[in-house]
Amino acid sequence: MKEKPIILGIESSCDETAAAVICGRKLLSDEIISSASVQAQFGGVVPEIASRAHTDAVDEVVARALISAQVKKEQLDAVAVTYGAGLLGALLVGLSFAKGFAYGLNIPLIGVNHIRGHLAACYLEDETLKPPFITLLASGGHTAVIYVKTETEFEVLGSTRDDAAGEAFDKVARVLSLPYPGGPHIEKLAREGSDSVPFPKMLKGLGGYDFSYSGLKTAVINYVHTKEQKGEVYSRADVACSFQKAALDILAEKAVEGAQEKGVNTVAAGGGVIANGYLREKLTAECKTAGLKLVLPERKHCTDNAAMIAAEGLVQYRAGNFAPLSLNAQASIPLR
Ligand SMILES: Nc1ncnc2c1ncn2[C@@H]1O[C@H](COP(=O)(O)OP(=O)(O)OP(=O)(O)O)[C@@H](O)[C@H]1O
Ligand SMILES: [Mg+2]
Repeated sequence: MKEKPIILGIESSCDETAAAVICGRKLLSDEIISSASVQAQFGGVVPEIASRAHTDAVDEVVARALISAQVKKEQLDAVAVTYGAGLLGALLVGLSFAKGFAYGLNIPLIGVNHIRGHLAACYLEDETLKPPFITLLASGGHTAVIYVKTETEFEVLGSTRDDAAGEAFDKVARVLSLPYPGGPHIEKLAREGSDSVPFPKMLKGLGGYDFSYSGLKTAVINYVHTKEQKGEVYSRADVACSFQKAALDILAEKAVEGAQEKGVNTVAAGGGVIANGYLREKLTAECKTAGLKLVLPERKHCTDNAAMIAAEGLVQYRAGNFAPLSLNAQASIPLR
């Protein structure tokens, strides 16, 4: 087994067709073709449209990744591909392509759990990063504080009991008539507003590291609808700013609390919501106060991408976890 294998990563679980090449923890290329603008017309991802877009894009995105990495396919040591969780039809496009590629080159296939990919993105940011550390996962479908014991062993300290953080951003965005995906639009609008709307504090009544976004989401919806029904003027920017603060402060606080409880000196993070500038600042400030090191993937490696799939591929390569060609796509899989 090579110390620094060259791994091609492929991601197609939702609306991004992506391919990346790494050599060890060094990122050589990172390509993405997104159907998000097409999906935005429908207010969310339409699975059949996503599958067809992947079919059109996968060949090209892989070719681009190899060319920009200046790597010939014969130099690859393994192909890592997302096999779940995600939209089945979408996953099958990337998975089938990866199988054909690995079989044709006679190199190992590595099946990657998309969520573990989000967690592995931080390994590309800091080549020296080593467990144990705490990771804050905040994406479209997941919100959790995770104790990373080793590269392959995790303990979920707490997670969302209802909506995920990204899901809450997307739903609130819809109420504010902002396009899908809502997170970046809320962040932009929030910059023009102030934190003046008293939305309820999250986690009231919840102990430990669990999160609940449904109360906050409902409070925002009720606030907007009541204002509109009464014909009262209100500031959408203030709503965005107040929601963003209520939704994100707690994530940073809980991540730091987790690190202190577990006695580790590093906090890492992953998932689309970690692209949020306010959250990144809050995490930076909280970690600085607590004397903790913070590792944040660059913004483009927070939302879905293939670099993170290749990074988790490296973890699995080193653990000797290779997949048979019979590997099937799975709509949902646990973290482990
Ligand atoms: N700047 C931002 N601020 C807040 N949320 C954001 C930002 N950028 C993206 N998001 C949110 O991140 C989510 C997309 O992230 P990601 O790609 O990790 O999720 P996913 O792949 O749909 O879900 P999962 O990874 O849990 O299966 C969306 O809900 C989006 O609104
Ligand atoms: Mg994702």
